[in-house]
Amino acid sequence: MKSIAILGSTGSIGRQALQVAREMEGEFSVAALAARENDGLMLKQIREFKPKVAALLDEGRARRLKENLGESSRTVVLSGEEGIKSCITESGCDIVLNGMVGIAGLVPTLTALEAGKSVALANKESLVAGGQLVMDLASRKGVKIIPVDSEHSAIFQCIGSTPPSQVKRLLLTASGGPFRGKSREELKGVTPSQALKHPNWKMGKKITIDSATLMNKGLEVIEAKWLFGMDADSIEVVIHPQSIVHSMVEMVDGSVLAQLGNPDMRLPIQYALTYPVRMPSGLPRFNPVETGKLEFFRPDLETFPSLRLAYEALREGGTMTAVLNGANEAVVELFLKGAVPFNSIPVVVEKVLEKHNNHKNPCLDDIIYWDGWSRSQVAQLVDKDGGEFWHLR
Ligand SMILES: NC(=O)c1ccc[n+]([C@@H]2O[C@H](COP(=O)([O-])OP(=O)(O)OC[C@H]3O[C@@H](n4cnc5c(N)ncnc54)[C@H](OP(=O)(O)O)[C@@H]3O)[C@@H](O)[C@H]2O)c1
Repeated sequence: MKSIAILGSTGSIGRQALQVAREMEGEFSVAALAARENDGLMLKQIREFKPKVAALLDEGRARRLKENLGESSRTVVLSGEEGIKSCITESGCDIVLNGMVGIAGLVPTLTALEAGKSVALANKESLVAGGQLVMDLASRKGVKIIPVDSEHSAIFQCIGSTPPSQVKRLLLTASGGPFRGKSREELKGVTPSQALKHPNWKMGKKITIDSATLMNKGLEVIEAKWLFGMDADSIEVVIHPQSIVHSMVEMVDGSVLAQLGNPDMRLPIQYALTYPVRMPSGLPRFNPVETGKLEFFRPDLETFPSLRLAYEALREGGTMTAVLNGANEAVVELFLKGAVPFNSIPVVVEKVLEKHNNHKNPCLDDIIYWDGWSRSQVAQLVDKDGGEFWHLR
């Protein structure tokens, strides 16, 4: 039985990972659960899965969780970043599923690798901000990172044991989000609730907005670079509205391998947890006849410049991708609060990137520093130039 620590257990990925564990009874034990503040849901999860350790970032919520669990619970409840660290190092887990959102997931990814734990990685921001650090540590420790993102899981499965020298190109598919086919002009009045309606996937708020701007695909290009050791020119994005082909790999002989299936994150989550073994799942079977046509288009970089920005940051390397990520997280948060219009998201990110003097080979402290810097730049820009951005509405 594999023992899992689930970081971000109350989120979309975390809840689906627990569903996988529930449906595959006897295959997994849940050693630890961690989240930010949702003590109500965490309480139910602890009662069902009885982990050894549970942690909430928020101290007050962790206290309330402990009180509500009562004395008889065998789960040790901890709080803060140290508490989350203990979920990885003190729970006796074999594998850490990182389903936290944002840069907050970077240190836990590094902690898991340092502790020699396999990482099932959904938290793409770990690789976007700290790709070099993460991959170097994984290789130094001889630990596997198994992708959970459906596109990267697809590529991982297609590549299999093919040596890197025989892989020519990665084709990352993207649904195009809720605004595919729209012009920048048509996106002027977009509200957070419109942007949160993804056509094919039900996900957390941040990734759903990133899917609407195509920044998510940009972050995934960077993620693919680190996971598969490919340069920016060998990673292409293709719009595929049906989200059936999860991604493709072109080999040097011209053969293209694709991984297909219904859009359901439980499959890549299960594969990451059972890897290298495949196990039966109760998920609905894929029916190509019912699916009908599969379409592919070029991405529209005029309307969705975030994808271009991600490629540019990747080509620059160094701290540029951490700044891209930090600025994007900060401005998406402001958009969700209704403080900036949708079309200003890439404009703000680009302004912050333009101000940044890149630093090559950053250490963790550099990444954390420039992440904070990028957020403060967003706050200043929106404060100072709020009017300028509102004309984009
Ligand atoms: N959802 C998907 O289908 C999907 C697909 C592919 C990749 N991903 C990636 O997976 C990651 C998670 O996405 P999601 O959609 O599951 O996000 P989500 O629904 O917003 O869930 C985020 C989880 O992280 C926790 N969290 C947030 N900040 C934290 C912090 N500082 N410390 C500890 N825990 C924290 C949240 O706890 P609270 O609930 O207490 O706030 C929640 O459990 C993202 O990197 C995303 O890009 C998601």
